[in-house]
Amino acid sequence: MPLIDPFDRTIDYLRVSVTDRCNFRCVYCMPENGFPVAPSEELLTAEEIVRLVRIAVDCGITKVRLTGGEPLVRKDLVSIVAGVGSIPGIRDLSLTTNGFLLNDLAKPLADAGLTRVNISLDTLRHDRFRELARRGDLDRVLAGIEAAKAAGLNPIKINCVAMKGLNDDEAADFAEWTLREEIHFRFIEIMPIRWNLDETDGFDPLSVHQGSELLQLRQATNGTMLSDLQMRRMFVSAEELRASIEAVHGPMAPAELTTNGPARTYKLAGALGTIGFISQISKDLCEKCNRLRLTADGFIRPCLMSDGELDFRTPMRAGASDSDLAALLAHVVAHKPERHYLAEGQKVLGRGMSQIGG
Ligand code: 5AD
Ligand code: SF4
Repeated sequence: MPLIDPFDRTIDYLRVSVTDRCNFRCVYCMPENGFPVAPSEELLTAEEIVRLVRIAVDCGITKVRLTGGEPLVRKDLVSIVAGVGSIPGIRDLSLTTNGFLLNDLAKPLADAGLTRVNISLDTLRHDRFRELARRGDLDRVLAGIEAAKAAGLNPIKINCVAMKGLNDDEAADFAEWTLREEIHFRFIEIMPIRWNLDETDGFDPLSVHQGSELLQLRQATNGTMLSDLQMRRMFVSAEELRASIEAVHGPMAPAELTTNGPARTYKLAGALGTIGFISQISKDLCEKCNRLRLTADGFIRPCLMSDGELDFRTPMRAGASDSDLAALLAHVVAHKPERHYLAEGQKVLGRGMSQIGG
């Protein structure tokens, strides 16, 4: 029985955050010292996660992605993968990671039933990596990508948040990688999602980079994360990225990738991999949105970019039955917003990305 929302969208995809903790501090996601994390007793246990996913699958979910925070920092991740992977009715079980711990975990995760991974990587330059992620190490992430390939976690997708003045000049370098290897690159528009805000007005959501202060990233963020306004100013369109790739490598042709989700996908002539663009701000993807999110502390959120979510942890711990929880899930789906209103100036205040599940 499928889950269908009031706008006739079939909801079949659940993104499950297994932790709000992370070993990186990406400038668009967290302040240098991180966010306050949920007390560990508020995080769902592996058993609770598997139970909620099973109920969601009984209601019509068929695709599950594990995310975070950084899912690989969770000690019992392999057993969560095994538990979720053994639920009948799941067609696709994937994971999003920053790759830092993947070298050691790719094989155990694949053995536990994981089929594929998305790795987040915003730069191929060591110095920039330290500026953007503020922790970790590019070489270890690259080793993690190799380990994922060796473990058969295919297709390998790399997600890159495109930021004007910070990494948009690397688009052609990323594209070059697809000529050599079967890697699927996807550029993601930066989304102005923030824990709290200090700027309120005067923005033009799709405006170009103004001024040079953003180039001095460390100064601009000063240990905090990028502000809503800074993120809005860093917006780079898919067209710009495409033009800079094509200027170096020649024209790209449309490509098909069966697991491509919302990305528009292209291929350079003779390439092994593909290049995709996820334009959740400039193109309205909401129309086709098929997803729900389960936060690490047990709330189900129907829209990434709208505050509003329902607590499943409290009723579950108070003894709710599977059918009680299924009824709550139907309630969330019935209240899934039609779309986000970021272009109109909507603020996403309640949680940061690492606390929602990217
Ligand atoms: N805008 C776009 N992408 C973001 N991510 C985290 N914060 C943002 C943001 N503000 C991405 C990460 C990763 C995924 C989990 O979400 O880079 O690819
Ligand atoms: Fe961690 Fe991902 Fe946020 Fe970076 S974007 S700080 S890797 S949760």
